[in-house]
Amino acid sequence: MNEIKVFSPASVSNICCGFDVLGFAIQGLGDIISLRKTHKKGIFIKKISGFNIPTDIKNNTATVALNSFLNQLNYSNGFEISIEKNIKPGSGLGSSAACAAGSVFAANLLLGEPFTLKNLVEFAMSGELISSESAPADNVASALYGGIVLVDNFKKYHVINLPTPKHVFAVIHHPLISRSTSESRNELPKKVLLQSASFQLTNIASFIHSLHTNNFDLMQRSLNDHLVQNQRENFYPYFKKIKSISYDLGSICCSISGSGPSIFSIVGDYKLAEKIKLEIDKEFIKMDIKFNSYLSPFGAQGVRVMEF
Ligand code: HSE
Repeated sequence: MNEIKVFSPASVSNICCGFDVLGFAIQGLGDIISLRKTHKKGIFIKKISGFNIPTDIKNNTATVALNSFLNQLNYSNGFEISIEKNIKPGSGLGSSAACAAGSVFAANLLLGEPFTLKNLVEFAMSGELISSESAPADNVASALYGGIVLVDNFKKYHVINLPTPKHVFAVIHHPLISRSTSESRNELPKKVLLQSASFQLTNIASFIHSLHTNNFDLMQRSLNDHLVQNQRENFYPYFKKIKSISYDLGSICCSISGSGPSIFSIVGDYKLAEKIKLEIDKEFIKMDIKFNSYLSPFGAQGVRVMEF
């Protein structure tokens, strides 16, 4: 096998109460990465289409991740990569992570799977850190593992796949403005109140319990953030209105995806998810803000092969 094409999904990180440690992959939006073995040693970018991303291999998250993958192997040849960049950088939907995750997943398959998924998270993170030097692995882990993930950023990215509830959906709205993760993270407070930390601990533990027990009332009560959302809401003037539409119609949760500007709602019924998507669509049109919207299972498939 000399060539492979993979689809690497966009993802939502934080899931409200899990700042930097929770995330899920979404369906219907992702980057397409093609990788071909070359006789020549090194990494070569053949083509990048779609949204603009760096073409210098030292600054492109996919090629930096690939380089870190290759550094662990005694591989005398190289790779040529093409990227169809469908996830807008600065969307809060794991754009840089999808490229980094997709490239190392593809390379691993082309070389007969020398590495585990956990190893791939580490390689992909060296790419992700190029785009934001304090980036956690919530998006990379979501893209590689799929479903809903809990990641330990301090112990070499240990990842746990949490139960994915059936018939629960995510509605995602991406207003077409950009805000880089590093810019957004620089504005966060460096310290939090003990009481806020305690609220957050209760929420994250309760949320995980709700996934194991399919308890949607508990899920709704636990999906609250006490660490970053208050600060971030101020940057997105549309958020409060969208949140009230989403909750009034019966969503389980409505929050900012990653550091924004995207917003997601979790909904316990497909028809209701369609309605919430439509009503939020209408509100963005009314506000004259260009956007894209998606309806996905809550925890979709991770990176997958399209063509061998
Ligand atoms: N979890 C990060 C944040 C974004 O909220 O800043 C994605 O890694």
